[in-house]
Amino acid sequence: KPLDIDPTKLSITKTQNPKTPKDPSELVFGREFTDHMLTIEWTKNDGWLTPTIQPYQNLSLDPATCVFHYAFECFEGMKAYRDSKGQIRLFRPDKNMERFNKSAARIALPTFSPTSLIDLIAKFVKLEERFIPDGRGYSLYLRPTLIGTQKTLGIGAPGSALLFVIASPVGPYYPTGFKAVSLEATDYAVRAWPGGVGDKKLGANYAPCIVPQMEAASRGFQQNLWLFGPEEYVTEVGTMNLFVAIRNKETNQKELITAPLDGTILGGITRDSILSLAREKLAPDGWLISERKITMPQLYEASLEGRLIEVFGAGTAAVVSPVRKISWKGKLVDCGLAENEESGEVANKMKTWIEARQYGDEEHEWSHIC
Ligand code: COI
Repeated sequence: KPLDIDPTKLSITKTQNPKTPKDPSELVFGREFTDHMLTIEWTKNDGWLTPTIQPYQNLSLDPATCVFHYAFECFEGMKAYRDSKGQIRLFRPDKNMERFNKSAARIALPTFSPTSLIDLIAKFVKLEERFIPDGRGYSLYLRPTLIGTQKTLGIGAPGSALLFVIASPVGPYYPTGFKAVSLEATDYAVRAWPGGVGDKKLGANYAPCIVPQMEAASRGFQQNLWLFGPEEYVTEVGTMNLFVAIRNKETNQKELITAPLDGTILGGITRDSILSLAREKLAPDGWLISERKITMPQLYEASLEGRLIEVFGAGTAAVVSPVRKISWKGKLVDCGLAENEESGEVANKMKTWIEARQYGDEEHEWSHIC
């Protein structure tokens, strides 16, 4: 019977050339890496082989390896934080593992025991502890990745795979505090479609996001807004989930809305955390919390009628990203921020509430001490 990942078998080879962590103020997202990497090979016959922590190094792969030709690749994004007592914490790693397995299964890559990989990631992160900068907004971004490694141009389920985890020290996404972004609604491309794989974290979903982002940037917009269908449902922003806060036309009730997980939306862990926090902390104040579809015309109407309270993106990298304006069909839709404001109240509160649990200031089951 092929073996599952066995964390008790971990083999560690430490680097002979430890580097000095970069000055935290100079960190650029995803540029700097730690001294080591966690790797676990898999073969169809033997299952998961010995987990290994070894010096960070190049991979050597035959040009015929299936990942290069047919995109057998999925990944995760998660962070490790240092708390005020110096303990290292992961944030909801069970959610990342669940999603990682779903992504892997969809592209015929092997799955694994979630608790075993969390255990190994925790050991890896502890080994790289000195690379985790102190302070709010700083963390170690972790990139678990799984690739098919079979050497063949024949297309089929890979008979071998490599799971690796690399780690990148990162600083606050907006080092000088929030900076609201403006979006261009993309009308010539869709990110995902019913029955597709937009709800899986496949590398193949990300490369096609760059041209629309560059197009938006060429007209002065930092990100693009993904719409779907003739109704022009608002779905995601760049590579983040989207939240919209509006006031109901009839009842005046405040409502926080994000697209439902209908298969076209990436089930973000920040998205899920925001929904939980909203149900816990905003609903008692009279807010309605909805996972439902909302169209661009409805968002535009709310804006014209002064009912659009705020719009923000949500993801692991930036946590929340407030939106100032959306360019759509020649109109510039105002998303409710005052001119001198970089964030609305909901985005602000969410960032504070999530970070309290990420950095362990509030003891919570979402936080996993390594
Ligand atoms: C996010 O955290 O928002 C992401 O989608 C990760 C990105 C670097 C691909």
